[in-house]
Amino acid sequence: MSKPSSHTKPPASIIFIFGGSGDLNQRKLTPALYNLFLDDWMPEQFSIVGLGRTEYSNEKFLGHLYQGIQEFSRRKGEQNGHWKEFAEHVSYLQMDAGDAAAYNLLADKIKEVEQAFGVHPNVIFYLAVAPQLVPDIATKLGALKLCQDAATTRIVVEKPFGHDLKSAQELNGLLTSLFDEDQIYRIDHYLGKETVQNILALRFANALFEPIWNRNYIDHVQITNAELVGVEGRGGYYEQSGALRDMLQNHILQLVCMIAMEAPVSFNANEIRNKKVDVLNALRKIPKEEVHNYAVRGQYSEGWIKGEKVQGYRQEEKVNPKSAVETFAAIKFYIDNWRWQDVPFYVRTGKYMRDKTTIITVQFKQAPHYAFPPEAAETWRPNRLTISIQPEMDIRLRFQAKRPGQTMTLNPVDMIFSYKDAYEDGHEPEAYETLLLDVLAGNPTQYMRDDQVEAAWKAVMPIIETWEQRPPVDFPNYAPGTWGPEDAEALIARDGRNWVTLPPKHKD
Ligand code: BG6
Repeated sequence: MSKPSSHTKPPASIIFIFGGSGDLNQRKLTPALYNLFLDDWMPEQFSIVGLGRTEYSNEKFLGHLYQGIQEFSRRKGEQNGHWKEFAEHVSYLQMDAGDAAAYNLLADKIKEVEQAFGVHPNVIFYLAVAPQLVPDIATKLGALKLCQDAATTRIVVEKPFGHDLKSAQELNGLLTSLFDEDQIYRIDHYLGKETVQNILALRFANALFEPIWNRNYIDHVQITNAELVGVEGRGGYYEQSGALRDMLQNHILQLVCMIAMEAPVSFNANEIRNKKVDVLNALRKIPKEEVHNYAVRGQYSEGWIKGEKVQGYRQEEKVNPKSAVETFAAIKFYIDNWRWQDVPFYVRTGKYMRDKTTIITVQFKQAPHYAFPPEAAETWRPNRLTISIQPEMDIRLRFQAKRPGQTMTLNPVDMIFSYKDAYEDGHEPEAYETLLLDVLAGNPTQYMRDDQVEAAWKAVMPIIETWEQRPPVDFPNYAPGTWGPEDAEALIARDGRNWVTLPPKHKD
């Protein structure tokens, strides 16, 4: 992606990565930081310190990270000629995060960097660790005097943020007792995706859509988030999670917020987050006895994906052979406010689906009167805006056109904005690049505030509790390579609608 000709780089910074020797750092964080470096976005002075219990020499640690660049960076096929320069800023510190005394090493490191830089750097603690370690590390960090400088110290917390409403409230309570809310960066990587950020531009930088973006013109909204992968060896984690907690409570509800929020008055972080939290607070609480009418769960059986045999969820490593955990969830939400009253938002997410696709569909109502002769309109369809988040990145507006010829025959056509065609170099930053740059620059707009997280939990708690109380009797209930269980089709078909299954480029 082309850069603005001049840009302000973040101030001098030191980034500590807890879980430095782990997967997230190797796959996402270091590739993102290296790409920021290549694109000239890293601070003039910066230091990255990987922390972990694994014994590593600096050299071995860098080798491990470099392997990640080669495998996972969006620039993996390119020359990595600047790696050595970047690597001069990276070091490894072996430390047991459970040992309070070890935290003095961090204080020493900050002092050392301060001396070398000649200024006090921003200090970022990135907790790329298992969720159960977060409270202890945060408590130990909170005890460090260095964290009390709220203006320059930040802590980044990965999802899952809590296991349910109660645990999220407890975690928020703990973190806000140790840090100011402004210091806490709760990451939801979907918010860093280019196509997700672009929803704000689409809605609020154009005069065209806003007047019709409401219940008077919109029939319904749907979001499909389908993955081709299964749980990928993360059975241990997934058994505690499931599709509702892993994807829906966070990523999908954030997409709902982007579509449904009111126009912000400014781009101020709290202004945007206030508008999103209003949406979450307006989500209709589904009565427990009604959950079956609003929510469908599924679990994949063994089967085939793109010609490859795959095992069922219950056969995955570290998964209970009788597991009731869902790998698919579909829900119908309503938003009780003036803009959205009675407009259903259908959302679904699943593993081992037919295709990899995340799309948002805004389906407009039918035209109020149809003056054309009936034979003109055999393929007549209402207008529809489709926002493809990934892997295709485009926006399509469907409308009726006259088919060329001597008869008045109408058919639906698409007006398409495609990133590939519009922006020639096609190097969109990855979500983690955008989000890491934001934390370096002290901009929390695309991060989750405490009340956002809690409001999202509140919305899904009736479903979680009902599902826990009533174990599924039909699991596994969908085959890999499909669009999930039949009940998910029924959920939307009952209302006389259907899922938009594939990006329109393939098929309607
Ligand atoms: C993560 C989930 O948050 O998002 C994973 O834990 C999921 O289970 C992943 O696969 C999907 O992210 P993306 O960016 O590939 O859609």
